[in-house]
Amino acid sequence: MKHILFSVLFAASLAAGHAAELLKPFVPGEIWPDNNGVHINAHGGGILFHEGTYYWFGQHMVAGGAGNVAHVGVSVYSSKDLYNWMDDGIALPVSEDSQSEITKGCILERPKVIYNKKTGKFVMWFHLELKDQGYNAARSGVAVADKVTGPYQYLGSFRPNAGVWPANVPDDRKKPLTEEEAAAISKIHLPGGPVPDYPKESLFRLHHECGQMARDMNLFVDDDGKAYHLYSSEHNGTLHISQLTDDYLKPAGKYIRIFPGDFNEAPAMFKHQGKYYIISSGCTGWSHNPARLSMADSIWGPWKSLGHPAVGTDEQKATTFESQSTFVLPVQGKKDAFILMSDRWKPENAIDGRYIWLPLQFNDDGLPFSEWKDKWDLGEFEKP
Ligand code: DGJ
Repeated sequence: MKHILFSVLFAASLAAGHAAELLKPFVPGEIWPDNNGVHINAHGGGILFHEGTYYWFGQHMVAGGAGNVAHVGVSVYSSKDLYNWMDDGIALPVSEDSQSEITKGCILERPKVIYNKKTGKFVMWFHLELKDQGYNAARSGVAVADKVTGPYQYLGSFRPNAGVWPANVPDDRKKPLTEEEAAAISKIHLPGGPVPDYPKESLFRLHHECGQMARDMNLFVDDDGKAYHLYSSEHNGTLHISQLTDDYLKPAGKYIRIFPGDFNEAPAMFKHQGKYYIISSGCTGWSHNPARLSMADSIWGPWKSLGHPAVGTDEQKATTFESQSTFVLPVQGKKDAFILMSDRWKPENAIDGRYIWLPLQFNDDGLPFSEWKDKWDLGEFEKP
């Protein structure tokens, strides 16, 4: 009933051209109805602000455990005020063609969209796992559109940076593994989480020729228009930051490895007062773990680990408010205003995953942190 009422009010308000009248607080972890009164279905998402409107792209999930693989595609919602969201449909549908890389049943995670001013195109990147191959493919998918809400045209997928050596390793490490070294590595079990014998200085050499593994990912556009792809690589053990070409469609041929062997997932980058930050998580599948914060003066590092960005009880810190980061959203028109967007996954009923949006605050040292709030609104950013 509440949803129907909301839907009617939302539609009426939109028709009258003042959706902002429905202003309501963010209520982290609760059902978040869209204009149709349906819980928003955009998991592992990210937001693009374009010409006065926010567009939220995310994984469309279906009910049950089967919902964790892609049955529908990437959804897109739009909003003027960040509270009230309109369902704009499926920006990139999965394919009915069983030969397609993005066939129904593939794993398509953490889609992000950026706008390229030079080409006038909207560019979507996502983590792609080929159907029935678990998480072994570890590829990056790219799609492009002329209109922000799509339809996006799938361009293809690859493992990034084939044939390119990382910019931040010494020259004497820039050589493929010998057959003996490769054979030794093939005997190590690499489950995508920490293992004692993780070969943290060898995997980028093993994957040099065929391209680097790319799973959890994000995009970041710097003030100068250069864009970067961040991804969990090397069986999740090491993050890569990779510059994109001017059209944002491919890796430009320069990347660095950061925190080798630290197993970071869910990376989200933002910039505040000239410093670059990454909020990430550990690697525990769909289960929550303590978030991590890192910082650098230059995107090319050196990156410094700064501990946990979540402030609260031990339980809240241990699970990051039962959530995992997906994006840091700069709020338009407000200074120092960023929202940390996270997912509270529900792997047993994927469609019921919840959104944990919290304001980032800055401590006396200027470092960002997040604190639990039952309810909050953008007025939070006006507080002294
Ligand atoms: C954690 C990742 O952050 C998610 O995007 C997803 O890949 C799950 N692992 C799958 O277990």
